Amino acid sequence: MPDKVTSNGELKAELRIADKTWEVPVVVGTEDEHAIDIGKLRAQTGYVTLDPAYMNTASTKSAITYLDGERGILRYRGIPIDELAEKSTFVEVAYLLIYGHLPNKTELGGFSEQLTRHSMLHEDMKRFYDGYPGTAHPMAILSAMVLSLSSFYPEALDVKNRAEQEATIARLLSKMRTIAAFSFKKSIGQPFVYPKNNLSYCANFLNMMFSVPAEPYAVDEDIVKVLNLLLILHADHEQNCSTSTVRQVGSSQANLFASISAGICALWGPLHGGANEEVLSMLQAIKDDGSGPKKFVDLAKQKDSGFRLMGFGHRVYKNYDPRAKIIKVAADKVMQKMKQPDPLLDIAKALEEAALSDPYFVERKLYPNVDFYSGIIYRALGIPTNMFTVMFAIGRTPGWIAHWKEMMEDPTTKIFRPRQIYTGPPLGHYIPMDRR
Ligand code: CMC
Repeated sequence: MPDKVTSNGELKAELRIADKTWEVPVVVGTEDEHAIDIGKLRAQTGYVTLDPAYMNTASTKSAITYLDGERGILRYRGIPIDELAEKSTFVEVAYLLIYGHLPNKTELGGFSEQLTRHSMLHEDMKRFYDGYPGTAHPMAILSAMVLSLSSFYPEALDVKNRAEQEATIARLLSKMRTIAAFSFKKSIGQPFVYPKNNLSYCANFLNMMFSVPAEPYAVDEDIVKVLNLLLILHADHEQNCSTSTVRQVGSSQANLFASISAGICALWGPLHGGANEEVLSMLQAIKDDGSGPKKFVDLAKQKDSGFRLMGFGHRVYKNYDPRAKIIKVAADKVMQKMKQPDPLLDIAKALEEAALSDPYFVERKLYPNVDFYSGIIYRALGIPTNMFTVMFAIGRTPGWIAHWKEMMEDPTTKIFRPRQIYTGPPLGHYIPMDRR
């Protein structure tokens, strides 16, 4: 039923159940998105809504990111992603997402300084790395280390203490890359490289990843640019699985470190951020198989095969993911710079072409997503496959922080507590062991 305007100018929708009609409020977003507010539905009608996987549910209002999946639009605080990708830096975008506006020179200088000052890990945290086996996945380490930060900075546990919040935000954003680089060094048996205050956010990370004490290491500014680009493109994506997890955990007023540690776990899964790792394995499998991408496209169409084209499809995008478009161009540029073409890039392009000309993918509007080409660039930068999702996590951190902060500052926030429709047995009674 279309919206109707009441005498006091409010938009309402009419809901009819059996022979009764109720008026329910309609909420309209900046871009004219309409939502039926069912917050009082159960109290008024006795009904709840059922929407597993939130296919059709807006869990919150948010002023951070706008996404139109039909038209392939993505904007952070109103600014199109392609403009930010071309002109901004990851640190500036982080400020934009977290504090709501593009920083002026003083604000950006102050924020960068905070990130610089908070980059080191407490020396005791370094010992945690010794407890992990060499086979540990870096996402497990990342999540555990981020959670551990809450024991080193107990002041962060008081989520109402706004004065502490800024330092907590800077600590987390800054230490993410140190934690990530240390887990890489641990996995290859090299000594940890400490952060350097004279380097930018991305250059510092590259230095911690790839320099060794035995020889000088010069950070390549072109690579710094590419890394900035990738992190910007991953920085936020409104209510995705991991961000919703951060909000879910944070809604109980859990601290920032705990909430984001949970978000990292959600990101790890192959249907979410873990897809970038899976894409590389899939491309390698196509290369090893040697018979071309069509066989894999056909396999992905067979539901009982259990195989999907990784890096393809999206819950919200029913058009080309704008981030994937930008990453595809960047992948070409990186290959030219490296002067060593990666055969997996050609396979990825051939696979994309085969899928996009197949009615199965066309009808279902399945396009390459952000994870499809990103791994090829990470690989060219020397980042190992099991670190790909960690890279995603570093990039997504400003978005997670922005959502946690937005939720904490909203006086109407309540603990997230969905309902369910019980489908188990009806009332039964306890049966003593000898009668079972
Ligand atoms: N390969 C083959 N078929 C697919 C694929 C795929 N990658 N993705 C979706 N489908 C089919 C699916 O079988 C279903 O077909 P039907 O209508 O006949 O049942 C239809 O398309 C709709 O798929 P869905 O699983 O109902 O859609 P969803 O919104 O629940 O899932 C998705 C979205 C991203 C989990 C899914 O597309 C997928 O598994 N893709 C591969 C994993 C991937 O690349 N994930 C990264 C997502 S983007 C970045 C991020 O979030 O981290």
